[in-house]
Amino acid sequence: MVRDYATDPVDPAIIERATHNAVRAPNAGFSQGWGFLVLDDPADVRRFWETTTHADDLAEPDEWLTGMMHAPVIVVPCSSKAAYLKRYADPDKGWTDEDETRWPVPFWHIDTGMAALLILQTVTDEGLGACYFGIPPERVAGVRDAFGIPATFDPIGVITIGHRTASEGAAGSPTRRPRKAQEDVVHHGRWGS
Ligand SMILES: Cc1cc2nc3c(=O)[nH]c(=O)nc-3n(C[C@H](O)[C@H](O)[C@H](O)COP(=O)(O)O)c2cc1C
Repeated sequence: MVRDYATDPVDPAIIERATHNAVRAPNAGFSQGWGFLVLDDPADVRRFWETTTHADDLAEPDEWLTGMMHAPVIVVPCSSKAAYLKRYADPDKGWTDEDETRWPVPFWHIDTGMAALLILQTVTDEGLGACYFGIPPERVAGVRDAFGIPATFDPIGVITIGHRTASEGAAGSPTRRPRKAQEDVVHHGRWGS
């Protein structure tokens, strides 16, 4: 994850390629219950930060915010639970009760997360930097209002995209905690072995 960017513009063709790949992510039942808000106009990008950041922090941004605000492109991947419940009520699936307890994990978030990874990988392949991060819960409604995200879609996070700088920006969690050993997280045959 890159948390500082040069302010040089990003080639729109790269964002087009990234979203082209995103909508080819694996997704349950080919439900495609996702939507991607792309902000590449400086006024929209500025409005995003104004909508998600306390005015005091905006006036005196820390290292993280300073670097992130340089990113000329922001993508907000959104997932739609409603789309999945509706899709799985179709005749070839047949869960006509649209009962949410049929879903042990929320595939709508998983699929949109997979699409988000394809965006990250595509722009990284193109030599750009990117960072995925969350929207503070109390700011989600403001983002919806500011950019017209419908009630049937939930932003699952945010991706900043831009040209890398030498610094790459604020240090991430891997500088503060070690990567877990592979043998501690990969279990062959039985958990713990
Ligand atoms: C769901 C999710 C939420 C994240 N939230 C933040 C965040 O709020 N701020 C941030 O700087 N990075 C955030 N990250 C980036 C992680 O800190 C980063 O991926 C992790 O520390 C591993 O570092 P690496 O991706 O650079 O290898 C998030 C990543 C994910 C997948």
